[in-house]
Amino acid sequence: MNIDELKSVAQAIVARQKGILAADESNPTIKKRFDPIGVESTEENRRRYREILFTTEGIERYIGGVILFDETLRQSSRDGIPFAHLLSGRGIIPGIKVDKGAKALALHPGNKVTEGLDGLRDRLAEYKQLGAKFAKWRAVIEIDEQNVPSAYAIRANAHALARYAALCQEADIVPIVEPEVLMDGAHDIQRCNVITSQMLESVFSELNAHGVLYEGMLLKPNMVIPGMKCPQRTSAEEVAQASVRCLRRYVPAAVPGIVFLSGGQSAEDATDNLNAMNAMDANPPWQLSFSYGRALQAPVLTAWKGQESNVAEAQRAFSKRCQLNGLAREGIYSR
Ligand code: 13P
Repeated sequence: MNIDELKSVAQAIVARQKGILAADESNPTIKKRFDPIGVESTEENRRRYREILFTTEGIERYIGGVILFDETLRQSSRDGIPFAHLLSGRGIIPGIKVDKGAKALALHPGNKVTEGLDGLRDRLAEYKQLGAKFAKWRAVIEIDEQNVPSAYAIRANAHALARYAALCQEADIVPIVEPEVLMDGAHDIQRCNVITSQMLESVFSELNAHGVLYEGMLLKPNMVIPGMKCPQRTSAEEVAQASVRCLRRYVPAAVPGIVFLSGGQSAEDATDNLNAMNAMDANPPWQLSFSYGRALQAPVLTAWKGQESNVAEAQRAFSKRCQLNGLAREGIYSR
């Protein structure tokens, strides 16, 4: 593996003020995003929508990398420029989602494990040819009132993440390791903290066992936050304190950046929480940044509604979210 390349790509993605746009929705997921705005999920509409995001002026100040879905990595702008080239030309690093989704874990009802390791070495070689410099694999951990997640589900997902990360680094592709503890459900912030801690401990134990180079990867965790149906609400400062405390205990200082997912938080909450972490006087060893899907795109979809006449408005909405998260990277955003 090319250690220097892995390190420099990982660092560039989380350079000052920068984070990641997660635009890697699978076709079933993007359909879920298009349905409420009345846009049919055709290949051309998906291409048109992604072009709006990728051609928004000025986003390269705040967006260091974009995660693409397989179909999007093979698509081009209306002028015929492949999206990966269009992004690289603007100084934005293209990445690719490589997992094949979370499936039911046998004999562990209510638990899931992410699939996609078979044939991954060959797929990574092709993605590299197509211009991808980093990749993403998402493990999904649900929390219920009783026995979910099981200890084995945590281990199985951590093991798959480590096998994926090792294959990426072998191919000189920076792995984004995403162990997502879902914020669906009624659990409180303490239970999120316990499960996130167990998951991170298991993930880094497996990464270590697999020989993964921490300096050449990024971690994409959930924030430590109560479930959406939890009656007790928390402030941005409480979320920030709990998240940084948990991460400090389990994430080695050699990892260059932590890029949070938004996980269903509103665009404003996701920015507020990230800002609170960077505003704390914590001096963490890693960059604290974002890799938001919904929290960057929800306002864009609402403005666009599939209409050509709304493209400028949609790009203004996107530009604003990028800029505000860039401020949150420095802890100087105010709502
Ligand atoms: P959200 O920010 O919408 O959670 O999406 C990020 C992501 O890439 C999930 O895998």
